[in-house]
Amino acid sequence: MAMERRFWDMLAKRYPHFYTPSMRQDVQSVLAWTKEQGVAYAPQSTLLDIGSGTGTFSIPLALLHVKVTAIDPSARMLEILREDAQDEGVLPLIETHQSDWDTFDVSTPYDIVLASMTPAIHDTFTIDKMINASQKYGVFVAWGAFRINPFVDALLEAHAPEERFLQTGSMKAEDVIERLEHKGMEYVSKRFETQWSDTYSFEEAMAYAKEQLERRGIQGDEEKIKALIAHYAEHQSLKVSTKAEKVILMWKH
Ligand SMILES: C[S@@+](CC[C@H](N)C(=O)[O-])C[C@H]1O[C@@H](n2cnc3c(N)ncnc32)[C@H](O)[C@@H]1O
Repeated sequence: MAMERRFWDMLAKRYPHFYTPSMRQDVQSVLAWTKEQGVAYAPQSTLLDIGSGTGTFSIPLALLHVKVTAIDPSARMLEILREDAQDEGVLPLIETHQSDWDTFDVSTPYDIVLASMTPAIHDTFTIDKMINASQKYGVFVAWGAFRINPFVDALLEAHAPEERFLQTGSMKAEDVIERLEHKGMEYVSKRFETQWSDTYSFEEAMAYAKEQLERRGIQGDEEKIKALIAHYAEHQSLKVSTKAEKVILMWKH
């Protein structure tokens, strides 16, 4: 768990903010579709954002006057969330807790529970805890059928070809669906495609490559990484593009 926390702290400085255009578009898609399905993001309603990261959902929701509780084990992610919320004037509407989901104490259920792209939801216990944390609605967002990133794919191919198709991180929507069906609960789901690009200097690209390998438990080989960066770089910088499918799952109590 300490290694995971270190990984997310390291990623925080490069993780999108709520105002990053590609992220904002995804978040708006999720909010618009779930609203259409009946989720009421009403002023004064309470919402728990599990694995909130930099506040990509928490801040837009607080801007709708929703009372948000954001939990995340990464101090760096929460620091960014609080800075951005302060700049937007919505910090008083967001309560932050530096905590893992496994150990977080839910004393009163929330109106809405939301968990997006987070390894917080990683087994039956954490799925059931998420479902039970709300009294009205639940929203879960995860990777869908594909995630294509030619640089990371080449990196894995060069280091550990058998890891090439292994996804890291959060549970699949199917695992959450299984639990909802087990409890006899109704749900709806939708898939959508997303893409984004990041540009790295040589040093940043080295750090990014090592992080990607480290989180899969693979020791990076400096020479192999350097050769790959040289191959993919243009004009002294490396542009890494990702195209992926995301799945939204929404249920009502
Ligand atoms: C990819 S970010 C997602 C951030 C945001 N929810 C979004 O959709 O943009 C994943 C977040 O999950 C957090 N996380 C990792 N393990 C967790 C756990 N066990 N409990 C709660 N959050 C966790 C990480 O610190 C990170 O901020």
